[in-house]
Amino acid sequence: MKVYITGADGNVGSRLLREMAARGHEVAGTDIKDLDITDFSAVAARIAAVQPDLVIHCAAMTSVDRCAEQPAEALRINAMGTQNVAVACQQQGSALCYLSTNEVFDGERGTPYMEYDTPHPINPYGYSKWVGEQMVRELTPPHYIVRTSWLFAHTGQNFLQTILNKALAGQPLSVVTNEVASPTYVMDLVPALAQLVETGRYGTYHLVNEGYASRYHFARHILDCYGLTDYPITPIVAAQYPRPSRPPVYSALNNFIAAQMGIKLRPWQEAVAAFVEHERALAAER
Ligand SMILES: NC(=O)c1ccc[n+]([C@@H]2O[C@H](COP(=O)([O-])OP(=O)(O)OC[C@H]3O[C@@H](n4cnc5c(N)ncnc54)[C@H](OP(=O)(O)O)[C@@H]3O)[C@@H](O)[C@H]2O)c1
Repeated sequence: MKVYITGADGNVGSRLLREMAARGHEVAGTDIKDLDITDFSAVAARIAAVQPDLVIHCAAMTSVDRCAEQPAEALRINAMGTQNVAVACQQQGSALCYLSTNEVFDGERGTPYMEYDTPHPINPYGYSKWVGEQMVRELTPPHYIVRTSWLFAHTGQNFLQTILNKALAGQPLSVVTNEVASPTYVMDLVPALAQLVETGRYGTYHLVNEGYASRYHFARHILDCYGLTDYPITPIVAAQYPRPSRPPVYSALNNFIAAQMGIKLRPWQEAVAAFVEHERALAAER
């Protein structure tokens, strides 16, 4: 299959590029320095030139707080940029896989969200990604929409790295207890995503490590796996941690559909343990 990846320098895109190539696909990818997804003519020309069977659209404005501070910019990149990619795919006859988020939900449900539940975003990032979902649904008939959440990886900025770095630097840690979602290891997400897009079974999916945690419990588990079991973390509530964005309180995702197809990610606790083991191996190599 000929695959084209947007956001190819990002956490997911960079690994996906390698994974798809390793699986024998012909892969090309660009990021903002080569192609800005908000430029429709450039996007359409690139997709027409590459003629991909499938576009995997990872490019996005992913900082939730920056989206809250600059909502119009979030819409320009995440909604309109996605519309551009979707129209270009429609014109070329390419299928499209769009990466979306737990933040399309409002967090009021109290049990893990199913793929069929109705989104109701409560912040600018979630809104922009939800508009992107609608663009994909309306404009590109053969599509996958893949929602994931709380990604952690060995590169880039993410919650797990922030907690670990602060603890290793001896800084005090206060972490919220009333924000719950599904932590997901990029190294687990990427092969699952690759497997899914090889099926041709288009639709909306939730690909996350199994289970869910509050930010506090996630942080505690990270430090415990690192052997920092005595390192204190002060539990706080979201109101004590003011930030530009208002996150959903409970946005755990249930991987119901892909699991029926045999595509299932391990529990998040095992993924964190694997992450820590891999970090140690990387440190030993340095
Ligand atoms: N990270 C998470 O926890 C999380 C959770 C749920 C869903 N997702 C979704 O998963 C996808 C991949 O996330 P990720 O963690 O891999 O994000 P990432 O590391 O931030 O990668 C996104 C890439 O897109 C690029 N980009 C931004 N604006 C662009 C534009 N106008 N044109 C072209 N490229 C542009 C970014 O460049 P710059 O870095 O220079 O801006 C970055 O390299 C995103 O769609 C995101 O919404 C992420």
